[in-house]
Amino acid sequence: MNEPILAPSLLAGDHGALAEAAATVSRLGLAWLHLDIMDGHFVPNLSFGPETLAALRRHGSTLFFDTHLMLSEPQRYVEPFARAGANRITIHIEPAYDHAAAFKAIRAQGCKAGIALNPGTALTAIQPFLDQVDLVLVMTVQPGFGGQAFREDMLPKIAQVDRWRSERGLDLRIEVDGGIDRATAARCRANGADTFVAGTSFFADRDRAGFAASFAAL
Ligand code: DX5
Ligand code: ZN
Repeated sequence: MNEPILAPSLLAGDHGALAEAAATVSRLGLAWLHLDIMDGHFVPNLSFGPETLAALRRHGSTLFFDTHLMLSEPQRYVEPFARAGANRITIHIEPAYDHAAAFKAIRAQGCKAGIALNPGTALTAIQPFLDQVDLVLVMTVQPGFGGQAFREDMLPKIAQVDRWRSERGLDLRIEVDGGIDRATAARCRANGADTFVAGTSFFADRDRAGFAASFAAL
């Protein structure tokens, strides 16, 4: 089993002081930062763009930028995000574009590639691409907003990706995103997830060191 990784989501940080929010994550000894990019089209909300990543780098962040593109045309933004400092670029299966070409482009930029699917999307949609990515992001809420309730009904989906991973010997991380806290993370872990995005629960916790330690022990 892959070691557990906690990836705090910057979306829940103070948008007037994002560099400080990223620094909070580094100071805890965490390695990853999750960046939610929204276009007001694929999802009904807007967040930040490549310039935000570049600014975080200029402010000294060396975190692994786990970049989640919630965009209708993600293939158009691979290069700008890679140039701005993304380490992983995760794109959704739902919009129509050349997915295989986009994964290739992500890797050609030197980034790791991820594939994401919404709660309403069947797993069969991502099946053909499993050998082209390093990570599967199983959304555990409908994307667009932080602070939503975890969808218990996504647990069997996580378990199925985990089964495919072992049956086919795939080198994949399984990430969950949406409504993740200490309790829901444990349930996802029991079903095979190893990478945990936490926005609201992370930034709202007064004992962030304890929070991080509980994920390391999953
Ligand atoms: C949802 C985003 C998430 C969000 C999670 O559209 O993809 O990454 O930041 O937020 P919480 O942890 O508050 O559910
Ligand atoms: Zn996300």
